[in-house]
Parts: sequence; C-alpha cells; structure tokens
Amino acid sequence: MDAAATHVARPAYPIPENVFAETVVSVRHYTERLFAFRITRPASFRFRSGEFVMIGLPNAEKPVFRAYSIASPAWDEEIEFFSIKVENGPLTEHLQKIVPGDTVLMRRKPTGTLVLDALMPGRRLYLLSTGTGVAPFASLVRDLETYEKFEEVILVQTCREVAELTYITELVAGLKDDPLVGDAAAGKLRLYTTTTRETSPRMGRITHLMRSGQLFADLGLPPIAPETDRAMICGSMAMLNETKSVLESFGLVEGANNAPASFVVERAFVG
Ligand code: A2P
Repeated sequence: MDAAATHVARPAYPIPENVFAETVVSVRHYTERLFAFRITRPASFRFRSGEFVMIGLPNAEKPVFRAYSIASPAWDEEIEFFSIKVENGPLTEHLQKIVPGDTVLMRRKPTGTLVLDALMPGRRLYLLSTGTGVAPFASLVRDLETYEKFEEVILVQTCREVAELTYITELVAGLKDDPLVGDAAAGKLRLYTTTTRETSPRMGRITHLMRSGQLFADLGLPPIAPETDRAMICGSMAMLNETKSVLESFGLVEGANNAPASFVVERAFVG
C-alpha cells in the first residue's frame, strides 16, 4: 500500500468487532525518529494507566497491528501515543505520516504489567526508561493514584540525543499547570534525564549511573533498597535485562499483576 492510503477517513471494508476506528486529533514530530499523536477515545474504552494496546491503520484488509503503550492517563478524554519511526517498519513507515482527521485502529483490550497494582506498597517509585519506553510513564505521572501511593516518584529517561528528551521534559514542565495532578506532582515528581551520544549536562546510561551510584548522589537519595523502593522498567530488551539485574543486585524482586512485588518490567515494543 502506498503512503496516501493511510489518509482515509474510514476504511472501505467492515471493521472487526474487536477493533475501534478512532480519529487522529493531533500529531507532533519531535525528531526525525520520534513523534507523538492523540486520537479520540471511544466512550466504552477503559484501561489502567501504564497499560498498552494494539494499534494499526486501515490501509489493508488485514492491517498490521503493533503494541503501543498508552501515554495518556486513564482519566484523559483522548488517547495519546509516543512512537518511534522505524525505517521500512510495516506499521510506523505509514503511521508517521498520519495527520488530524485520519483513522487509527485500536483493538479493544488493553493489557500490561506496568500498573500500580503490580507493586507492593513502598515509599519511592522509580520509573526507568530509554527512548519510547517513557510512554507508559507519561501516563503514570499524570495519574493522581501514583502520588497517592508513593511519597516520591523518580522518572528517568536515557536517550541518545538531547532532542529525544523533549517530549517528557515538556510534559513534566507542563504538569505544574495541570489542575488535577499539578500540586501532587510538584511536591513528589522528579525528572532525571541523560544522554549517551550527544553532550548534555548529564551523560551516561541509566544502568551505569545506578551501578556507579551517580544517580543517587545527583538526586541526594540513598541507594535503592527493597524496604522503601519500587520500580518499573521500560526499554529495549537489552536495557530491560541489564536494568533488571541492577535492581536485583539492590535486593528488589520482580512482580506481576497476580503477584505484586518490588519491580515490574515491560518491553518498549516498537523499536
Ligand atoms: P547507547 O547510546 O550507549 O547505545 P536506542 O535508541 O538504541 O533504543 O537507545 C536508547 C538509549 O538506550 C540510548 O541512550 C542507549 O545508549 C541506551 N541503551 C541501549 N542499550 C542499553 C542497555 N543495555 N542498558 C541501558 N541503556 C541502554
């Protein structure tokens, strides 16, 4: 299918029952590799902040669906996604061309492990991400429940370049004007961003900064401990495995929806 085929208001064939056809409301490109977009939210669609859903485009009778973390919080009246543009990626080569008014398909059933219910109570929550892995955390830091459950929330994102940090940096800065979570976030949320390939005030991979203790020194916090700290990880498979072993070295234990523990993990799917 050529690119123009994505610009259709509605597909010409019937939409399966388990799929919503929603309208693109806005699109913003951050870098040559990253963009965010918002779609209308079906009235019957419910999800928990941090979950993901399968999305696709109506450009083929059997559309390609990919898992996308929902970046907006559970209370938002639109649905937001933060996406990478994969060269020749079966979905993202078309998805990156969407404009307001286009249709995006979304399967009805959200799921995922990066939910507050999968963690035991704790004092501090670390949200550890690379690249588009920050998306589920963009949802959680806009959810009041996150601040009801934790005294401090540390949101970490490592990217290659400074411009790739813009999405989360602006989102967190904008929270101060948010009538719902503004006050809670102002007292509890801290953003810690680093780059690995472009010079910036803070450099180095998350994993390295946690192992060396630099991250804790910079934040003026004690090292992660199982009595007080909980964590969520979202990034590439290699990042997940390494970050997981760092957390385990601090004594944290991996949990799941049906077995809450001290950290949970999810792959940043499209990448
Ligand atoms: P680096 O530049 O050293 O590879 P990508 O865009 O390739 O998904 O990478 C996003 C960010 O994740 C980059 O800053 C990259 O650092 C970092 N990264 C890649 N692999 C790992 C890993 N195993 N552990 C921690 N960070 C990683």
